Amino acid sequence: MTSAPDYHDSTPPGEAKDTARPSPQNIYDNPRFFEGYRTLREKDTGLNGALEIPAIRALLPDLHGRAVLDLGCGFGDFARYAREQGAATVTALDVSLKMIEAARALTHDAAITYVHGSIEDRAVQPAAFDLVVSSLALHYIADYATVVRRVFDSLRPGGLLVFSVEHPVCTANPTGWIHDADGHRLHWPLDHYQQQGARSTSWFVDGVIKYHRTMETYVNTVLDAGFQLRHLAEPQPTAERLRERPDLEDTVRRPPMLILVAMKPDAAHAPQRRNHETKD
Ligand SMILES: C[S@@+](CC[C@H](N)C(=O)[O-])C[C@H]1O[C@@H](n2cnc3c(N)ncnc32)[C@H](O)[C@@H]1O
Repeated sequence: MTSAPDYHDSTPPGEAKDTARPSPQNIYDNPRFFEGYRTLREKDTGLNGALEIPAIRALLPDLHGRAVLDLGCGFGDFARYAREQGAATVTALDVSLKMIEAARALTHDAAITYVHGSIEDRAVQPAAFDLVVSSLALHYIADYATVVRRVFDSLRPGGLLVFSVEHPVCTANPTGWIHDADGHRLHWPLDHYQQQGARSTSWFVDGVIKYHRTMETYVNTVLDAGFQLRHLAEPQPTAERLRERPDLEDTVRRPPMLILVAMKPDAAHAPQRRNHETKD
């Protein structure tokens, strides 16, 4: 069997860890948060099953024989799906031990390697993967630009990065809908859009930190790393799905997520990495 590429600590041997950098948040190991999130996913009442998973799957290349990396793998649903689709190996990383333990318990496949660690602290040998996927995890990352550059280096020429994040329209001012006196949703208040950075939100528990970035930053950081942008999606439910789940009407009023697909060009077509620094 093909073995999975090495995925290791990003601090080079002999170098001190960067202690100035804040530790990545690990809210999924909070027991109350974990139970809330697990119930949401089991009942499929969140947006993952209704919107995100079908949209990401529709944008994937043929996975046969591919070496795949999943950043923020959660319960390992994508890792198992990728193997069903013929991926040779899947390396799946998550900062939450509870998520990794649950993923391992659900998986009986020696070609899937679950790694417990943070996206920020792990690095791979260069040109090790054909596809890097990250579903709804990168808005938890403070230093998006470094992660994107590392992903670029970890991909083989022609390899793809496919990722989803909460949409900037949602993360800018995550205070929730404005209601009228009868409790009807009037509108989603967009504010502080250009003020990028951490937002403290309440989701199962208080103090969940997510990072807001503008659409410009999401796209230009990918281009600056040397990728070619292949597709940008703001998924919305089909009319049939809306009939089954009228509550998804909210997602037509404001986009809940953003998906980018970017390709590492082969050497002959590679642009230089751009020096333009995006404000992140
Ligand atoms: C919304 S869940 C999505 C899980 C999975 N990708 C899916 O779509 O089913 C986000 C996941 O990202 C993980 N995560 C958040 N911050 C992370 C970090 N800094 N490094 C690694 N994983 C992280 C969380 O622990 C959680 O499992």
